[in-house]
Amino acid sequence: MDQIRIEGGNPLNGVVEISGAKNAALPILVSALLTDGCNTYQNVPDLRDIHSTLNLLTHLGADCRMDPIAHETTICAKGLIEPEAPYDLVRKMRASILVLGPLVARLGKARVSLPGGCAIGARPINLHLKGLSEMGAAIELKHGYVEARAEHLKGADFYFDLVTVTGTENLMMAAVLAKGKTVLRNAAREPEVVALADALNAMGAQIEGAGTSVITIHGVEGLHSVDSFRIIPDRIETGTFLVAAALTRGQVEIRGCDPSHLDAVLHKIRLTGAEIETGENWIRVAGAPSIHSVDVKTLPYPGFPTDMQAQFMVLMSVAEGLSLISETIFENRFIHVSELRRMGADITVSGNSALIKGVPKLSGAPVMASDLRASACLVLAGLIAEGSTTVQRVYHLDRGYEAMEKKFQKLGAVIERIQE
Ligand code: EPZ
Repeated sequence: MDQIRIEGGNPLNGVVEISGAKNAALPILVSALLTDGCNTYQNVPDLRDIHSTLNLLTHLGADCRMDPIAHETTICAKGLIEPEAPYDLVRKMRASILVLGPLVARLGKARVSLPGGCAIGARPINLHLKGLSEMGAAIELKHGYVEARAEHLKGADFYFDLVTVTGTENLMMAAVLAKGKTVLRNAAREPEVVALADALNAMGAQIEGAGTSVITIHGVEGLHSVDSFRIIPDRIETGTFLVAAALTRGQVEIRGCDPSHLDAVLHKIRLTGAEIETGENWIRVAGAPSIHSVDVKTLPYPGFPTDMQAQFMVLMSVAEGLSLISETIFENRFIHVSELRRMGADITVSGNSALIKGVPKLSGAPVMASDLRASACLVLAGLIAEGSTTVQRVYHLDRGYEAMEKKFQKLGAVIERIQE
């Protein structure tokens, strides 16, 4: 397994280009299952999770082509054969559950392995299933699989007991070919949900209200293909580089991003003292000599994103004073704390809150990544730690960050990937 080694201490300076958003690309590529035409997509990030998704779609019978240099992908789901997503594919990526809605909508049946829990929490899919059954699907759980059948899904008025991003996306895709109108209430408002709705509407769907908590979908007979649909920029990668610049007291220009997706993150990083200027598709950030402590609570969009919690914790670990970070989305998303402590951070966890007492500096150490964003946080810690840090199991990182070490190298970091 590859490792990443970092010699800390260099401020980051220069320009970094943001890649397409993993969490927009995943549902949008899966939405190609809803038509028998060929869909082409631009700005698709070259990530492990994208390759896992294309492998799954190929297994289902779609013809998938990806040009990782041009970041273009073509998916033709004409000859769907086997509406089954097997365990060995789903276990690699829980977002595979997103094929459930489209397969039932297109073929009337699906058999998808239940995604197990993961490092950050149990992550049940009960609301995905409850919504599908209210749309007329017969749902059975057998031998670790979800089996869903429906002659023809029908519109439903469905209330989400809690906000779920992929739950909203799964039901939105199921509803586009259903008979009649579907209303999704307490829906997720993430930009990735809006991007999926835009992609589906470009295919002839009739979706209104995406980005608000009430989404209305008028079922249509069929969808046509979409050509050159562009994936939105990755707001979490953008936030990760924002924190990196503030952390290393550097001056970085982040290009090809969408600042309007990052209000909460920009607000909090400004409060720490960093100077931030934004344009339509760029952000300039200059780190401040001293970092102020700021409290954060993760919330569904437009609140502070849980996917930025670990990265922000690194910034707070070398801030002046005390800060409190509360994680309200996942029940076990402080795994990175023990590794940060080994680097000298002073963090106390109680329930879903972490109290961080800023220390003057961190010290480099061999550390272990546990999930995607925790691995990013450990790389960030290495950038400012005294001495050398080696992050193991960087396959977690490769799931959601395109060539992260190369982007940091270009900004002046002393960082290299050690291939094993
Ligand atoms: C999406 O996961 C993202 N993944 C996650 O990003 C992100 O952290 C999360 O949303 C929250 O923003 C993708 O978009 C592919 P949820 P998702 O359903 O949809 C509970 C990353 O690092 N829940 O919004 O799986 C669940 O347990 C990843 O890129 C139910 O109880 O998350 C959690 O506590 C990590 N029942 C909360 O809702 C359900 O049926 C939010 O989960 C569904 C969810």
